[in-house]
Amino acid sequence: MSKPLPKNSFLQGVWEPISLECDINDPIVIGKIPEELNGTFFRNGPNPQYVYSDKYHMFEGDGMIHAIIFSNGHVHYKNRWIRTERFLAERKARKSLFGGMRDNGACDDSVKHLARNTANTNVIWHHNKLLALNEGSQPVEITKDTLMGCNPYTFNEVFNRSMMAHPKIDPVTGELIFYSYFGPDFNYFIVNKNGKITHQEKITMPFKCMMHDFAITEHFNIFPLFPLTWDFQRMIRGEPMFKWEPNLNTRFAIMPRYGKESDVILFEDQAALGFHVVNAREEKDKIILEMVVIDDIASDAIAFADDDVTYVNYFTRWIFDLKKRTITKERLDDINVEFPRIDERFTGRNNRHAFMNGTISKSVPNLFDSIIHYDVTTNKKQVHYFGEGSYPLEPIFVPRSVNAEEGDGFLLSYVYREAFNRSDLVILDAKQIDAEPLAIVQLPHRIPFGFHGCWVNKE
Ligand SMILES: [Fe+2]
Repeated sequence: MSKPLPKNSFLQGVWEPISLECDINDPIVIGKIPEELNGTFFRNGPNPQYVYSDKYHMFEGDGMIHAIIFSNGHVHYKNRWIRTERFLAERKARKSLFGGMRDNGACDDSVKHLARNTANTNVIWHHNKLLALNEGSQPVEITKDTLMGCNPYTFNEVFNRSMMAHPKIDPVTGELIFYSYFGPDFNYFIVNKNGKITHQEKITMPFKCMMHDFAITEHFNIFPLFPLTWDFQRMIRGEPMFKWEPNLNTRFAIMPRYGKESDVILFEDQAALGFHVVNAREEKDKIILEMVVIDDIASDAIAFADDDVTYVNYFTRWIFDLKKRTITKERLDDINVEFPRIDERFTGRNNRHAFMNGTISKSVPNLFDSIIHYDVTTNKKQVHYFGEGSYPLEPIFVPRSVNAEEGDGFLLSYVYREAFNRSDLVILDAKQIDAEPLAIVQLPHRIPFGFHGCWVNKE
């Protein structure tokens, strides 16, 4: 960032990148850190080291991990850029070498052979590996304590594809379930709890589209296909890579976890666009899927790569009857919500609690001012409103203990304080989210708006 940043809404305000990497031992804490919190909260998000042009998009910044380490009531903050091939090449050149999708994929001749991976979307913990994910690229393994390391992760040298950014971990079997879809084919994988790929299936989907997230149940996978199609050829022709094609409708491909392409059942519904799954569960012959979804899109109003469109995501439930092959859809609330998380001990099972960011004030388009708790059995909600000028990010749920009942634990969320241009890490009691925070960790700098994270218990 040695030049002033170009004018671009993804480089301003909550999105403005920070240029520091630091460690903060014992930042100021208001309140008391719960004794049960022992482990690390990792959060990933885009933070460009250099910017290629004013066409930068938020999906394209170098990944930066922010970690808060909790140990017996004390906290330590650490942030590091992820040392991808791309990051290291640009650091050496002291300038941006890679254009983005709105630059039609342009890049410097010196890096034509390098991967474009930014590893900026999610960070997960599985078989004692910390993996940073970006759905167009291979996973990157990071060293948990130092946040360094930059090697593409290959699952014992057998995986060389892109990996989507929202894999699911079955809470009972420990399996890691995911797919690879940015490429010529859609390929589905199951990795056992020890990190070995145990199942792989190539599936022909009805069309190639943004498939950011999916759901599992105890026995099935649900792959939503929304009609936001992609095609690398468009970019080569100088057109936007993504295209909204509502005439294709929304499809859901449902298949048994260990199924084959021939087992896939397809459902069809009107065009909508959803990025994030809340959870899914089975009920006799039915599968219930809950997501946050934009479903009132005027046919030509959406341009995926535009930064001046206001989106409203609604908490939405689809019910698929596998026997009758029918589909029903219900909007569960009428406020804008995003970044849903659950108590992940109930992934794919009969969960009761869901937590997500929400917007209850009308004045903050494309930002969130609240964390919402929904009881999905009653559709009742509780709101923690952070007040004007405070913007929370994805709330991560941490159980109070291994055996605590569902939803008994803590919510961790970075909250940007606009008036002070810095961020706090706020800890809420997940059972009483409308109460005052249990603790607030004050950071002297801003955590740029980002995407997803995880909690890893202390060993
Ligand atoms: Fe996501």
